[in-house]
Amino acid sequence: MSVWSATVTRSEDGAIVVGGYDVRDLAGKFGTPLYVIDEVDMRARVSAFRDHFTAAFGRHGAKCDVFYASKSFLSSRVARWMLDEDVNMDVASGGELEIALRGGMPAERLALHGNNKSDAEMQRALEVGVGRIVLDSLDEIAVLDAIAGELGAVAPVMVRVTTGVHAGGHEYIATAHEDQKFGLSLATGAALEALRRVHAAEHLELQGIHTHIGSQILSIEAFRESAERMLRLRATFAAETGVEMPEVDLGGGYAIAYTPDAEALEARTAAFEIADAVADALAEAGGSWPRFSIEPGRAISGPAGMTLYRVGVVKRVELDEGGTRTYVAVDGGMSDNMRPITYGADYTAALAARESSAEPALSRVVGKHCESGDIVVRSVDLPSDVARGDLLAVPATGAYGRVMSNNYNALLRPAVVSVRDGEATLHVRRDTLEDLLSWDVAPDA
Ligand code: LLP
Repeated sequence: MSVWSATVTRSEDGAIVVGGYDVRDLAGKFGTPLYVIDEVDMRARVSAFRDHFTAAFGRHGAKCDVFYASKSFLSSRVARWMLDEDVNMDVASGGELEIALRGGMPAERLALHGNNKSDAEMQRALEVGVGRIVLDSLDEIAVLDAIAGELGAVAPVMVRVTTGVHAGGHEYIATAHEDQKFGLSLATGAALEALRRVHAAEHLELQGIHTHIGSQILSIEAFRESAERMLRLRATFAAETGVEMPEVDLGGGYAIAYTPDAEALEARTAAFEIADAVADALAEAGGSWPRFSIEPGRAISGPAGMTLYRVGVVKRVELDEGGTRTYVAVDGGMSDNMRPITYGADYTAALAARESSAEPALSRVVGKHCESGDIVVRSVDLPSDVARGDLLAVPATGAYGRVMSNNYNALLRPAVVSVRDGEATLHVRRDTLEDLLSWDVAPDA
């Protein structure tokens, strides 16, 4: 499986070219580390989700909307792309909401998530007219009802359901099993109770139910199981109240390949298999077709992005089992990619400004932080002549990279640029030393 974004090629003298832009020029103009988004690739990914899910659900005479999960990567320019591509977005905080609005995304196309939304976040969402607020707890129902009442508004809401389907990769990215903080449990009856309360609330309008079962999901079976449980809940509620909720959201979690030997769940396969599974589940549970929606995040932003690093120290260490490992230290690390240290995530890397015919050497790409767990790529064969000054590219870093970055060791968070047809556009500027010092409140002279 290729881990490089759609427009990646090599120049005649061996440098990676992405979006028609030579990485040597990108590094020269914007510095390193640098997050680079291949605009053509990212737009193609989101339009593939939109088109395949529209076609697949359309075969059943039904509809499925795409909400890009902006937590995976967000800039106001990306919000604009999503609008151009005619998809909606989900936001998970007041901050994400403001960036999406700044990009011109109409509020009614936004869904607001969060397991612990503040009063201010809910109020702002109502004031700007967010299209759906996804309620995550029983407590929140009364709070939102009161806020909406004070504003003289009616809040469009969905209820986040914990279906008990345990799917996805690392424990920290599975989200619908019982013993975690998200949503309202199907098994204990909390979800049904929430629906009753929303239905009875004066200032809430029940649009439907939402679930998100986890991330890095490769198997359709988990989606099938979750759709079955969701549609049974919808039927139970309809039998009790006569209300057939109009919408069901099945969340995100479509797996991407971070390394060449890994698999991905392609939008096309996912769309047709999920639509068929949903049709079966609906036939079983009974009821009319609701409008479906999905929330892919990393499957849109992840493979479209790469990180460029500059190599510094290269060190060979002897291994107990014999042989050597080359430690290739780059100018970033766990501050710009938290995923290896957080989830043990694997990535790959390649020499970016040149090709080399030197013998491959077992290598580990590490950062410049004061921790031995500061690993960018655990294991990769790199040419044995990698040296100080080389550029390295790490593909598939477009999701949960910049958005989870931090200033550990007072490093400066990298910029994000997108490239297309030989043009580069800045989305997020690099932190400066002045930024860093301005956050620090100095003692009196
Ligand atoms: N919808 C909801 C409600 C979510 O909570 C998430 C992710 C998504 C959609 C998108 O999931 P995706 O398609 O991107 O897998 N920081 C972790 C991932 C945490 C995801 C949390 N929610 C990582 O780097 O893998």
